[in-house]
Amino acid sequence: MTTDIRPDMAELTDRETELFTWTKQWYPVAVVEFLDCDRPHGMQLLGKNIVLWRDGTGKWRCFEDTCPHRLAPLSEGRVESDGTLLCAYHAWRFDSAGNCVSIPQSKNEEIEAKHCANPKSCAVGYPTQERQGLLWVWPESGVKAQLESQERIPRIVPELEQESDRVLKVSANVRDLPYGWDFFMENVADPAHVPVSHHGIMGSRYQDAKYYDMPRVREMSVQDGFAFGITPTPPTIKEAIHDFQPPCHMRIVSTFTDGGQLILALYATPTRPGWCRTIGFQVLVKSEAGKTPPGLGFFAIPMPTWLGHILASLFLHQDLVFLHYQEKALASRGNKRWLDAVYTPNPQDKMVIAFRQWFEKKAGGAIPWADRANASN
Ligand code: FES
Ligand SMILES: [Fe+2]
Repeated sequence: MTTDIRPDMAELTDRETELFTWTKQWYPVAVVEFLDCDRPHGMQLLGKNIVLWRDGTGKWRCFEDTCPHRLAPLSEGRVESDGTLLCAYHAWRFDSAGNCVSIPQSKNEEIEAKHCANPKSCAVGYPTQERQGLLWVWPESGVKAQLESQERIPRIVPELEQESDRVLKVSANVRDLPYGWDFFMENVADPAHVPVSHHGIMGSRYQDAKYYDMPRVREMSVQDGFAFGITPTPPTIKEAIHDFQPPCHMRIVSTFTDGGQLILALYATPTRPGWCRTIGFQVLVKSEAGKTPPGLGFFAIPMPTWLGHILASLFLHQDLVFLHYQEKALASRGNKRWLDAVYTPNPQDKMVIAFRQWFEKKAGGAIPWADRANASN
């Protein structure tokens, strides 16, 4: 029987009237252990040029990547031994709060102090925090942003907060990929592609492309997304849940019949149009008997960091060509809605449809890029 799954999905729309606010969120921008602390790192977030750097106290900071003097990129600057960020164009220095603390071309100390006290000399800073080995940035500046950012918890993995030797984290990978945040989320909401696109690594395109249903297990909401299960699950798995937590996190949990769990913690941060930064790691939760659940093949094997990066890239590259060209195909159709452009008769696409519905109805249907001129660079 052919089922039209969309009327069913329409029930997911709730009565919330607020829209998701893209800038009042924590975004994971880096794996801290992979950052070089001795230099600034430029990147983009929501189309805004930003710079990450570590101050003298060891805390990672984020500024707008623009020097207040004559707009040179601070990411071309230097982290100095006094814990300041020095603009490499005329050597103005900035402290961790963004205050200008040195203008070496000043006539005397008094005039320098006066110019440094002018708010126009300050770099624009954004709230940051480190949680679970990731650096998170809140892309609004000012006192209000500091307060609001403290009220929201980043999309961390709760199991890693437990002091338990049953919980193991497998090292992370990070990549900038040439497809948008929405196509990444669509991809990781879609278990049906796994044995086909990842043929030979995770299943077989000939044996494992099968029927299953994806029942909804958490209702849709603006702030907290939604979750879907898979049924039936393979014999060794008791429950499989895909849990979308806006704006950046897909948490995929497989609970095995012995109680052990494999948690895939997947993140994507919108950097600029057509690109996203992905971060991923696995968390293994042992069964009560102390048995480790099977991880994703070679990703769960202890290995040097460089090898993990290469292998993770192989995996990501299997999907890359599809996602890049899906995005181009949709763009070539002008303003056509994704929901009108595709044909999705089977229940395996329920979560992908829900994701597109959340994006369109709850989050404005487009990422509010800060500056399209910058964002396209
Ligand atoms: S542009 Fe940065 S110090 Fe002049
Ligand atoms: Fe994939």
